[in-house]
Amino acid sequence: MILAKVLASVFGFSLGAAERTYLWDREPLPPCEGGVLHLDGKYRTTTEVEYHDDCLLRGAPGTEVEVDGKIHFLANARLQGSIVFTRAPDASNHRRCVDIEGSLDMSDVDIEFRGCGGPETEDGGALYVEGRMDMSNGSVVFRNGSAMWGGCLFVGQRLFMAGGLLRFEHCVAGELGGGVYAQGDLVQSGGHLHFTNCHAYRGKGGALHLAGTDLLQENGKITLSNCWAGNGGCICSNKLIAKTNSSAIADMEDFQGKVVLNGTLVAGGGSADYKGGVIFAASGELGGRMTLRNCKARVGGCLHFKDFVVQ
Ligand SMILES: *[C@@H]1O[C@H](CO)[C@@H](O)[C@H](O)[C@H]1NC(C)=O
Ligand SMILES: *[C@@H]1O[C@H](CO)[C@@H](O)[C@H](O)[C@H]1NC(C)=O
Ligand SMILES: *[C@@H]1O[C@H](CO)[C@@H](O)[C@H](O)[C@H]1NC(C)=O
Ligand SMILES: *[C@@H]1O[C@H](CO)[C@@H](O)[C@H](O)[C@H]1NC(C)=O
Repeated sequence: MILAKVLASVFGFSLGAAERTYLWDREPLPPCEGGVLHLDGKYRTTTEVEYHDDCLLRGAPGTEVEVDGKIHFLANARLQGSIVFTRAPDASNHRRCVDIEGSLDMSDVDIEFRGCGGPETEDGGALYVEGRMDMSNGSVVFRNGSAMWGGCLFVGQRLFMAGGLLRFEHCVAGELGGGVYAQGDLVQSGGHLHFTNCHAYRGKGGALHLAGTDLLQENGKITLSNCWAGNGGCICSNKLIAKTNSSAIADMEDFQGKVVLNGTLVAGGGSADYKGGVIFAASGELGGRMTLRNCKARVGGCLHFKDFVVQ
């Protein structure tokens, strides 16, 4: 704005014109014609945008979408190419950025979500996927998203990661899953799943919360740095009976969910107010290479499983 004022005084056009130029710079999102939505440039949504049929969303390098009204896919979606989704600085609501009612497939991506959602967003501050989510290769970075469940990402069915990078930074949940809330299994056969500075304020799973389902790492790497929650500072799998009452969550110990590690896990700075500084789940099979540093909790400084606890 200061730059705009300087330009206005130097070139003699009014500030109003400069502001309108900024809005003119950003086009509304086009329709998904023939199942392909190709974006190249700068866009902005002011109201919710709906896509009713299966759609491939592809971005050219440098593409940005400023989101005020969420982008809503009512069927399946595929993402490819380069796109930065940013919550509009003057956004009038706390809506998430992208909502997919079907499944999501991502390959050859370079995608970033910045500042999506807010304390009033129910689940998946940046991205909500009702069905399955598949990540093949490329990189998807989530920054500064927040919601009640799954600060940055909610996945309703299986989340499968074959390769690439999924990175979560400063993702915050009011209740469960600071970075991710997953209702199905999370299966990693490769790639890097990275969480840094993710928190679940009143609940469990500072980085990742699984709803009593399993984390199965066949290969690949998981990095957890500085995550915090009530139980399961970084990763928690526990079946939840009611997800509407936070005072009930702290009391419940309905153990379900297994954590199987067979790749690399590096955790530094995981902390839980109560149990499992890094991981809290019903059972675990811990293989591969695991490094745990600076974890703390009241019970199970690093790991807490139903049958055993590692201080
Ligand atoms: C990414 O994955 C897709 C789907 O598996 C594949 O077709 C494509 O060749 C891969 N790209 C790279 C760069 O490996
Ligand atoms: C993201 O959140 C962190 C921690 O609250 C903050 O330091 C940082 O400035 C935020 N970044 C953006 C781009 O808002
Ligand atoms: C565990 O990792 C090894 C070495 O990467 C691999 O060969 C094996 O198939 C993996 N086991 C499972 C159960 O995924
Ligand atoms: C939440 O749980 C507490 C303690 O179990 C109970 O007293 C309270 O009535 C519940 N609130 C709602 C809205 O269900």
